[in-house]
Parts: sequence; C-alpha cells; structure tokens
Amino acid sequence: MKVLEINGGKKLEGTVRISGSKNASVALIPAAILADSEVTICNVPEITDTDALAEILDYLGATVKRASESIVVDPSTIKNKEIPEEMSNKLRASYYFMAVLLAKFKHVEMYFPGGCAIGARPIDQTLKGFKALGATVNEEGNRYVIDAKKLTGAHVYLDMPSVGATINTMLVAVKAEGETIIENAAKEPEIVNVATFLNNMGAQITGAGTSEIRIIGVESLEGCYTEVIPDRIETGTYIIAGALMGDHLKIDNIIPEHVEMLILKMKEMGVEIEVGPDYVIVSKTANLKPVQIKTQGYPGFATDLQQPVTVLLTQCEGKSILEETVYENRFKNVPYLNDMGANIQISGNRIDIEGASNLTGCQVEATDLRAGACLVLAGLLAEETTKITNIGPVLRGYENIVEKLTDVGASIKIKEEN
Ligand code: EPU
Repeated sequence: MKVLEINGGKKLEGTVRISGSKNASVALIPAAILADSEVTICNVPEITDTDALAEILDYLGATVKRASESIVVDPSTIKNKEIPEEMSNKLRASYYFMAVLLAKFKHVEMYFPGGCAIGARPIDQTLKGFKALGATVNEEGNRYVIDAKKLTGAHVYLDMPSVGATINTMLVAVKAEGETIIENAAKEPEIVNVATFLNNMGAQITGAGTSEIRIIGVESLEGCYTEVIPDRIETGTYIIAGALMGDHLKIDNIIPEHVEMLILKMKEMGVEIEVGPDYVIVSKTANLKPVQIKTQGYPGFATDLQQPVTVLLTQCEGKSILEETVYENRFKNVPYLNDMGANIQISGNRIDIEGASNLTGCQVEATDLRAGACLVLAGLLAEETTKITNIGPVLRGYENIVEKLTDVGASIKIKEEN
C-alpha cells in the first residue's frame, strides 16, 4: 500500500509552476475524436485521469502519442466500440465519450461514469441534452444505449448549470444540423477551453463562458492545435499552501482571474498576497480573521477548493462558516481534520470552524481527490508526521505533487507500507 508521508512545519519558499487543467484536459482528450485528422493538445498534465482517457482512446483504435506535456491524437482510425465498464468507471469524464461517439456515429453504448464519491452526481441533464438533439436513450441498469437517426439543433434549458451537461451538449451540438442554444449553461473556464478547441477544429460556437451558448452545427471538423488552460484548482491549492506555510511562495503560470473568489476571501482573512499578471506571491500571515464562504458555480467560490480552504479556516481566529451548495457529501475530510486537532462541526451542508487550532499529524485517509488535497495541506502545516493512506485519488488530480512540494521546501514522500 502506498502512503504519503509528510513531516509538517517546513517553510515553503521558491516557485511552484502550475500544470494544465485536469478538468479541461479530461474534456479535450475525448473531444479530439470529433476531428477527422490529427489533433495536438499541449499542456496536458501527466496524472492518472489523463492516462485513463488516453487508454480509452487507444482502446477505441485511435493513434495516441504522448510527449512531455502534450498529447497527439489521430482519430481517423477510430471504431465505435462499447467501452468496458472497468475503463469508464475510473473517472467521471469518461462520459464525454458518450457525447463524442454519439455525435460521430449516432450510436453509443456505455456504462454510468465513475468519479469521486462526493454526492449522487446523476447524469439526467446530459441525457436531457442528448434527447433534445434527437437521441433516444435506453437505460439498462447502469448501462446506456443511445441512438439517433438524425441529430438536429434544439433549444436546451439545463435545470442547473452543470459543467458536464454543458460540455456534453456542446460536443453533440457541434455536429447536429442547425442551431442549438444552451440556456442556463455553466460558465466555468474549462467550458471556454473546450469551445475554443472545437472552434479551432471548425465548429461555430459563441457565448461559451456565459449562461447562453449558441452552436451552429457543421458537417465535419478538422485536426488542429490547442493548449490547456492552467489548472485553477491546483492553483488554488498551492495558494492555500502558501498562506499556511509560505515565505513569499510564488505560484506561477496561472490566470489569477480564475481564482479571484479565493483571493478575495484570503484578502478578507488578512492573508498577505500579491497578485501579478500570471502569478501570485503569498506568505503565512498571523492573526487571520474568520470568514463565511458559500460554494457556487463559476465565478462563485469553487466547490473543488472548499475542502482545501477548510485547513486555512482552522487557522483563522474565531468562527468561520462554510456552506457547500454543489455536492451533498463533500465533508469526508472533516473527521480527519478533527483527529488532527481542528474544531469543526458539521450540520447538513454547512460546517462551522472554530479557530485557531494547532494541528498535529496522525494517520488519515484521502477519501476523494480534494479531501486528499486538504489533508496534504493539513500535513504541511501540522506538527509531527501525517500519513495519508489511499493516495490514488490525489494522484488522479495533482501532477508531480511530491516533487513540486519538495522543490519549495516541504518534507513529503510516497512510501510503500504493508
Ligand atoms: N447534477 C445533476 N444532474 C446532472 C448533472 C449534475 O443533478 O445531470 C448535479 C451534480 O450532482 C452536482 C451539481 O449538479 O451536485 C454540479 O455538477 P456538474 O455537472 O457541474 O459537475 P461535473 O461536470 O460532474 C465537474 C468537475 C468537478 C467539479 C464540478 C463543478 C470534471 C471532470 N469534474 O464535475 O470536479 O466539482 O464540475 O465545478 O470536470 C474535482 O475536480 O475534484 C471535481 C469533482
């Protein structure tokens, strides 16, 4: 069994370079299938989620070449095959293959996708989008058979601004006949990244990044080159690390606007932070003030930073309140933080954090990706040694996390233990 061992209390100084976005890459890689010729995607992080998608592309018959930070896909030899459940349930993003195979072949058979167990995470809005564009969906348990004689543009209203449903509807609409309008679309930067990629292939998408996206379908899409945006959740995670243990820690190669809510909240706490055009510099600051945070879709406070920021809230003097409005079950990190010495009460979708607390390392488990990130941050801050078990989820989302933290002064390593 692999464990992450952290000896906390070390000052973090120097520069962390942020990698390409996981949640953009995991949509761009399946989207490559829509082109009829070779596609190059740059700045793809080397994490197990992108590996899993490259494996699916390979299984479907595409030629996939991986070089450092880029992936080249020739989809011209692709076959429409059912993706085995053990491949698709490794991650949530496998369901982007539902959309691209439907768009390309008008028929797809696939299982319910995987992903972190942080809530029910149904896919009804994605299926609603497919149906509006002319598909019929047959559910056989957790397996879906989706067919369309013809895909036709339509007016789609999403009941909630779902990132996955927005991307999936867009991926099908680019090849449907006529115009599609997605209302109440999610506005996350990853959606803009996907729309730009598709437009580079020859699609006609406008409005990505707003709540109304318009797509005029085209007959074919050509190979192109695109670049993945910096990972805003990795950015936020390292900014929080800087606020906990930094001595002018520089977080570089970022788009500060994508983490604006986090920066504003940190300024409200009193964290010393300098914001540059593509970097921030952040230091541990004494006497932090408590704040209230509510997670929301972009540009609101990102749910994916909710668990990481909880560690910083344990260092504020007084009671902070954090409300999680996106997922029903995203507090699995809390009992472990309390084991380490935090004082956090869970009530429904809200936690009350009474600080400041001294944290001490102990054995904890990464129940999901961002819970794992939270515990890494707690381990960096805590006295003594923190051992994190079940580190798979962390490695799904953070490229070279051990090397990046070691380079700026942390004492962290992956150990093999029985
Ligand atoms: N929802 C539904 N029905 C749907 C779709 C979503 O009820 O058909 C609900 C979900 O259950 C959830 C909320 O709507 O409560 C938001 O879900 P959304 O579809 O926006 O999330 P997602 O596309 O499944 C992506 C990221 C998540 C991130 C969310 C929100 C990927 C692969 N995943 O998930 O990332 O939390 O958007 O920003 O892009 C992570 O990186 O740790 C992570 C979980």
